[in-house]
Amino acid sequence: MLNIIKVKGEQLFNETGAGIIASLLQSNPRAVLGLATGSTPVGVYQKLIELYRDGVVSFKQASSYNLDEYIGLAEDHPESYRRFMNEKLFNHIDIPLESTHVPAGNTGDPTQAATDYTRLLEKAGQLDLQLLGLGHNGHIGFNEPGEELQGPTHIVELDERTRQANARFFPSIEEVPTHAITMGIGSILQAKQILLMAKGEDKAEIVARALKGPITTKCPASFLQTHPNVVVVLDQAAGGLI
Ligand code: GLP
Repeated sequence: MLNIIKVKGEQLFNETGAGIIASLLQSNPRAVLGLATGSTPVGVYQKLIELYRDGVVSFKQASSYNLDEYIGLAEDHPESYRRFMNEKLFNHIDIPLESTHVPAGNTGDPTQAATDYTRLLEKAGQLDLQLLGLGHNGHIGFNEPGEELQGPTHIVELDERTRQANARFFPSIEEVPTHAITMGIGSILQAKQILLMAKGEDKAEIVARALKGPITTKCPASFLQTHPNVVVVLDQAAGGLI
């Protein structure tokens, strides 16, 4: 079931997303969170840091599992998702770093790393909440459109459009990794609750396809329509076509 919330302005967008995560932590301090990277959640993470500093929320007993990671970037590479998460969130809150998990993209054996992450997720049990952004081609995590989708954590070759979209963070497109390790659609859909967030006019078309279009592997996010508890937070521009 999709519960769609449209909000006006960046501030309300971030407050709404952070508010959902904060109330979960207030009712369940040991919540297991699925977290995401990309530009969409950055303001949400800032707001969560503020709520932590104000004593409204604590992450001390929580744990987190990130969706994805590039293959071949060192953990301290400026664009690695591990570094992103440390800098945008973990270093500023009270979550123990050992309770945070990001797939290992730089072990030299990505297939084994994917299997290890699947096991880790199984051990963690059901995620209480999975936060998601949305790629322009309908990807969630790095589950790219195609003829078929995979359930568990696996290796993906990145879509050219995804590499181009992410090239803005790298010195040149050649330096954008060609592959990534990502939680699969199966693991994502197992979360108790999913929080999908999208903002900006450039996301309006894919938001409409994902939420109102046919359920198809050509738009991986369309599978969210099959989940019993999805909250979608959109700004007015991203929600313009629905
Ligand atoms: C990235 C990430 C996704 C993210 C998406 C959208 O490549 N792998 O998890 O949701 O693309 O990113 P943005 O929020 O910057 O639009």
